[in-house]
Amino acid sequence: MRSANCCRPHGRERSLSSEFSAGRGPPSFVALGGDYMPDITTDVLIIGTGPAGSATAALLSTYGVENMAINRYRWLANTPRAHITNQRAMEVLRDLGREVEDEAYMFATHQELMGENIFCESLAGEEIGRMKAWGNHPLSKAEHLMSSPTQMNDLPQTFMEPLLFKTACSRGTQARMSTEYLRHEQDIEGVTTTCLDRLTGKEFTIRSKYLVGADGGKSLVAENERLPFEGKMGVGGSMNILFRADLSKYVAHRPSVLYWVMQPGADVGGIGMGLVRMVRPWNEWLIVWGYDINEPEPEVTPEFATDVARQLIGDPDLEIELLSANTWTVNNYYATKTSNGRVFCMGDAIHRHPPSNGLGSNTSIQDSFNLAWKLAMVLKGQAGERLLESYDAERAPIAKQIVTRANQSIGETGPIFAALGMAEGVDPEQMQKNLEARTDGTAAAEAQREAIRKAIAFKKYEFDAHGVEMNQRYRSNAVVTDGQIEPAFQLDADLHYQPTTWPGARLPHVWLYRHGDGAETSTLDICGHGRFTLLTGLGGEPWVEAVKKVAEEFGIEIEAHVIGPRQTYIDHSGEWARLAEISDSGCLLVRPDHHVCWRASSLSDDPKADLTRVLKTILAR
Ligand code: FDA
Repeated sequence: MRSANCCRPHGRERSLSSEFSAGRGPPSFVALGGDYMPDITTDVLIIGTGPAGSATAALLSTYGVENMAINRYRWLANTPRAHITNQRAMEVLRDLGREVEDEAYMFATHQELMGENIFCESLAGEEIGRMKAWGNHPLSKAEHLMSSPTQMNDLPQTFMEPLLFKTACSRGTQARMSTEYLRHEQDIEGVTTTCLDRLTGKEFTIRSKYLVGADGGKSLVAENERLPFEGKMGVGGSMNILFRADLSKYVAHRPSVLYWVMQPGADVGGIGMGLVRMVRPWNEWLIVWGYDINEPEPEVTPEFATDVARQLIGDPDLEIELLSANTWTVNNYYATKTSNGRVFCMGDAIHRHPPSNGLGSNTSIQDSFNLAWKLAMVLKGQAGERLLESYDAERAPIAKQIVTRANQSIGETGPIFAALGMAEGVDPEQMQKNLEARTDGTAAAEAQREAIRKAIAFKKYEFDAHGVEMNQRYRSNAVVTDGQIEPAFQLDADLHYQPTTWPGARLPHVWLYRHGDGAETSTLDICGHGRFTLLTGLGGEPWVEAVKKVAEEFGIEIEAHVIGPRQTYIDHSGEWARLAEISDSGCLLVRPDHHVCWRASSLSDDPKADLTRVLKTILAR
C-alpha cells in the first residue's frame, strides 16, 4: 500500500469552486497557476475519528485504499456516549474480521445483562414497572437470533472508537491527531483541505481525491459544503454526569443498561425521563438529566452533580467519584443532501438526534459501510463516479428516519408521566399523591395501573425497535429491481425485522453448514468483505460460469457460491430455501455491504448478458 504522505505530481486542475465548494479558504490550484503543491496527498481524507470516521478508515484500509484520518483532539472519545450496539453495526465489525467482532464482545456488557428496563421513583425507591428490552424478551430474542449471526451488546464509545481506530491504523490508515480541519475547496479532480496542526500552530494542506466529513454534530465540513438540513438544533437541554459508585445492591438483581427515574422535573428537557445508565456493571454510571433549554445552561459543579446523583439513586449519603460532567443539547436535525461532488458527510454530521433508541453510533458505522466500498471501487477504476451518487440516495432517507424516530421516542414518554399523574405543571405534592393512588383497590386505581402498563409497554418503540435497526432498504442507481415490487411489511416495520431478498434489502441471515466440517456459516459471512457475491443453488451453475466471465471483463472480484447438497455450503435446515425468495436455479447478486442489488427468480436465457447489464448499471460503467 502506498503511504499517505507522499506528494504525488499533479497537473493543472480546473476549479469547480462555484459549483461545489464553500469558496473561501485555501489557495486553489487555479489561483496558484497549477504550481501549488499540497503538503500531503492521499486518496481519501477523513475528518474525524469517531465511530463514523474510524469505521470508514478501517473499511477503506481493509479494501486497500489509501486514506488519512484526522482528529482535532489528541485522542479518541473521552466519555462513553454511545453504548447500545445493534446487530447491524456488529455485522460491519464482523465483516472487518472475526477478531474485530470478538474484541467488541470481549469489552462489551453482554445482551443478557441489558434487558430489565426499569422505571422507578429512584434506584433505592419503589419500582413502578419494567419491560424487557434490547432483544431480551423471549419473543424478541427469537427474532434477534434468527436475524443475524451477531448479538446486540453494550459497548461504550470509549471502547468502540479505539477498536475501530486501531483496526484502521494497523491496516494502513495514516492518522493525524491534534489536527484540525479548517476549510476545503474542491475542483474537478480532487479536494484541497486546509488543516491546523494544533501542536505547532501551523496551517498545512492535504490534497485528496475525496473528502469525508465525519466531524460530528457540529460538522464544519457539512457547513462549508452548505449541505441543506431540515429540522431544528437545540430542542432540549441535557447534561451527562459520569461517576463511579458501586450500586450493585440496587441493580444486580434486575440487570439493565437503563434505569429510568420518574421524579418531579424528570420530564423537563433531556431525553424524556431522568436516566441512570450503566457504563460498566455495576460500578460506573452515567446520569442523563434534562434542563429547560429556554433557561440559561446550568453550571454542573461537583456539588450539583453529586446532588443529582443522590436524588436519582435515592441515597442522600451516596459518595460518588465524579469523573466528568457536561451539558449537551437534544437536536432534531438531518441533512436532506448528504454529499456534494467529492465531499461526503456521514454520522452525526448528517443526522443529529437524541440518544433515544441508541441509533447514533450504529447508524454512523452503517453510513461508512455504505460509502467505503463505493469509494474503493471508484478509486480502483472498477466503477464510474456515478456510483457515488447512490450514497446520498440510500443514506439521506435513513438520516431522516432515525432522527424522526429518536425524537418521537422522547415524546412517547409523556403517557407514562400522564398515567402516573406526574405531567408537567402538576405540583410536586400532588404528584406524590397521584403516584400513590395507583396502589389503591379502587376501580380508578385499576384503570391507572392499566394506563401505566400500557404506556410502559409502548416504549418498546424505543427499547426494542428491532425493525428500525434492521429493516433498511435502499432505492438508488446501485440497485436493479427490474420492476419487482417491494414486499409490504406484514408486521410493524419499526418493531420487527422482515427478511426479504428484494433488491435493495439487506441479505437475510441464515446459518448454512460447511461441507466437511459442518461449521455453521452465515449467509452474510460468505458475502461482503469488499466484494460482490453471487448466490445460487443447484441448477444455477450457469450463473457461476457467467459471473466469472463478467468479473474478468469488468476487472473486479466476484465470489460465487452454489448452495445445496454436496456443495461447499449446505442448507440442511431448509431456512435458506424458505427465505431466498428465488428458485434453486435463480440467483442473488449481493453488494459488498450485504445489500442484495439484483435477483433472478430462475435461470435466464442468457445469464452473462443479464449480469453484464446489471453490473453496468450498478457500477456506472
Ligand atoms: P463523533 O462526534 O463521535 O466524532 C466526531 C469526530 O470528529 C471526533 O473525532 C472529533 O474530534 C472530530 N472533529 C470534529 N470537528 C473536527 C475538526 N474541525 N477537525 C478535526 N476533527 C474534528 N449512539 C448509539 O449508537 N448508541 C447509543 O447507545 C448512544 N448513546 C448515546 C448516549 C449519549 C448520552 C449521547 C450524547 C450520545 C449517544 N449516542 C449513541 C450517539 C453517538 O455518541 C453519536 O451518534 C456518535 O458519536 C456519532 O459518531 P460520529 O463519528 O458521527 O461523530
